[in-house]
Amino acid sequence: MEFKDKVAIVTGAARGIGAATAWTFAKRGATAVIVDINGEGAQKVAADIQAKGFNAIAFTVDVSNTEAVDAMVEEVFQKYGHIDILVNNAYISGGYAIVTETSQETWDKVIAVNLTGSFNFAKAVAKKMIPQKSGKIINISSGAGTSGSLSSGVQYPASKAGIIGLTLGLAGDLAPFGINVNCITPGLIRTWEPEEMAKQATGWTLEKVESYIAVEVPLKRVGEPEDIAETVVFLASKAASYIVGEVINVDGGGVIDSVAKRESLLGF
Ligand SMILES: NC(=O)c1ccc[n+]([C@@H]2O[C@H](COP(=O)([O-])OP(=O)(O)OC[C@H]3O[C@@H](n4cnc5c(N)ncnc54)[C@H](O)[C@@H]3O)[C@@H](O)[C@H]2O)c1
Repeated sequence: MEFKDKVAIVTGAARGIGAATAWTFAKRGATAVIVDINGEGAQKVAADIQAKGFNAIAFTVDVSNTEAVDAMVEEVFQKYGHIDILVNNAYISGGYAIVTETSQETWDKVIAVNLTGSFNFAKAVAKKMIPQKSGKIINISSGAGTSGSLSSGVQYPASKAGIIGLTLGLAGDLAPFGINVNCITPGLIRTWEPEEMAKQATGWTLEKVESYIAVEVPLKRVGEPEDIAETVVFLASKAASYIVGEVINVDGGGVIDSVAKRESLLGF
């Protein structure tokens, strides 16, 4: 139980990758602090974890609300006396529109949740980790933050590239205090069933999801939330204690360029 008595805050943990990460930490002994704007969903994940005999607590917080984040982090610190791990995972996509049709409101909202939300939590938690001289911060970016995405508009890749920059800035600031800050760039992860995924990814049909996996992912399968959760837990573990400012692709090899990809793009 490597994480026994550790306190791990996971944002956006009412579902998907965040929920899987909270479960993975809890199963290994940590108290999972489940944060989400969806309070009902967060409570349900916490209750399910507790029902299995593990430790969890839920908070309803909008990560873009600085005062709410500060108050929540203070409450967790007062309750447990330490905060060991932060996973910045909460996000919204803003949907797809060509840049000329992308509203200022969509841009502002996505940057506020994805990027400012990660800054808010990192700042509040760093104030607790610095005096402890220990801590792990793992930021969830996306392959869209390094390679862009033809179905995500401009706001989502911009916010996710910003998270990589935030990671590097935080890593340099906080490493001298014994705090490791790193980042994960997931590929396509099954946070919905394929049919639902096709509906969620704007303009994508089920066939398109399947052909994307066939062409873009050398491992020939969609990623599971646990694939990301296990990498998060590794980065929070002692095994990763000399890793700082790293950006890790967890995408089944999707980062690898291939003839098949180019052929598919060129329509051969
Ligand atoms: N699923 C994928 O294919 C994929 C691919 C690349 C990157 N990612 C990244 O992984 C992370 C998790 O993705 P997911 O697919 O599990 O997402 P998801 O949509 O299943 O879950 C996101 C969670 O964030 C919460 N949230 C949204 N706005 C919030 C706010 N203002 N405050 C607090 N919580 C808020 C939602 O309520 C939801 O529970 C995201 O950062 C995403 O960019 C996912």
